[in-house]
Amino acid sequence: MGEVDPAFIQDPEHRPKLCFSEAEGIPMIDLYPSREKDPSALDRLVKEVGSACKEWGFFQVINHGVPLDHRHKVEAAAREFFGESKEEKNKVRRDAVKVLGYYDTEHTKNVRDWKEVFDFSVEEPTLVPASLDPHNQDVTHWHNQWPHYPPYLREVCQEYAKDMVKLALELMELIALSLGLHQKRFHEFFKDQTSFIRLNHYPPCPSPQLALGVGRHKDSGVLTILAQDDVGGLEVKRKSDGEWVRVRPTPNAYIINVGDTIQVWSNEAYESVEHRVMVNSEKERFSIPFFLNPSHYTMVEPLEELVNENYPAKYKPYNWGKFLVTRKRSNFMKLDVENIQIYHFKV
Ligand code: OGA
Ligand code: NI
Repeated sequence: MGEVDPAFIQDPEHRPKLCFSEAEGIPMIDLYPSREKDPSALDRLVKEVGSACKEWGFFQVINHGVPLDHRHKVEAAAREFFGESKEEKNKVRRDAVKVLGYYDTEHTKNVRDWKEVFDFSVEEPTLVPASLDPHNQDVTHWHNQWPHYPPYLREVCQEYAKDMVKLALELMELIALSLGLHQKRFHEFFKDQTSFIRLNHYPPCPSPQLALGVGRHKDSGVLTILAQDDVGGLEVKRKSDGEWVRVRPTPNAYIINVGDTIQVWSNEAYESVEHRVMVNSEKERFSIPFFLNPSHYTMVEPLEELVNENYPAKYKPYNWGKFLVTRKRSNFMKLDVENIQIYHFKV
């Protein structure tokens, strides 16, 4: 591929700089104390998580408890799957009805992303609203589409999904404590969670100065847990000065970022942060984000404990399932209207 299709080309103001600065100071947090009985160590950890959420919206974790061999198996399966022919991958292709599976024409803000993905949900099946009509309460199901090759992909992905849910709930306990909430405050939202995992493959790109692997965006769910390989390319818009800075890969660590849903729940104590993915002309890159999402029937709104006369709610309640389905649909159809965003629910 010598030339880049115009669909991939970013407007000049959104094109990446090929010479980038690596982020100094994205917090690296050791989760070891969360499994220990030492209350003062746990207290320090909670403070670290709280200030990382506040100052950055992004942090990395080590000693996270996810077995390394589970991660390696999913990484190997992803590499094998994306190495299959287009014909084979298209057998599990996503369409307007089957929203999970393989996809290579995703757009972010109406510019095509230089990537291919494979999505699968954590709950099988995942319950979601059948209709976007606010008065229609019917529920439908999302089903995973598992490829035949490689045959072990399904099992390792399902095993890894359990690891992700466990880590995510642990992180949500720390975040709850950091907001002065009961440790298990968030658990109720994840009973019929709509969380999903995405295997990302970013092939080498002949014009990395014009296109992006993923255009600038915020994650709309609760929390994202990202495994990136050693190539690097994830850039975060630093809150302190608005500069794009790159997250340096740390072997076996996970990158955590706050999504829009936490921004609303916390009444903006914690804000989700814009990020994007640069591609490069030599190396392909793989990454695996886990998107923690609540149940479809969750009404997302600022938590009552965090709202009072001095801090009135900054958002009106919205139904997570309808929001999610609207997003999926408009991403699929590449509508020329702006995607639904949380600021549409700002008071
Ligand atoms: C995403 C995302 C980052 C990456 O898929 O939402 O931000 O490094 N991915 O792949
Ligand atoms: Ni993202």
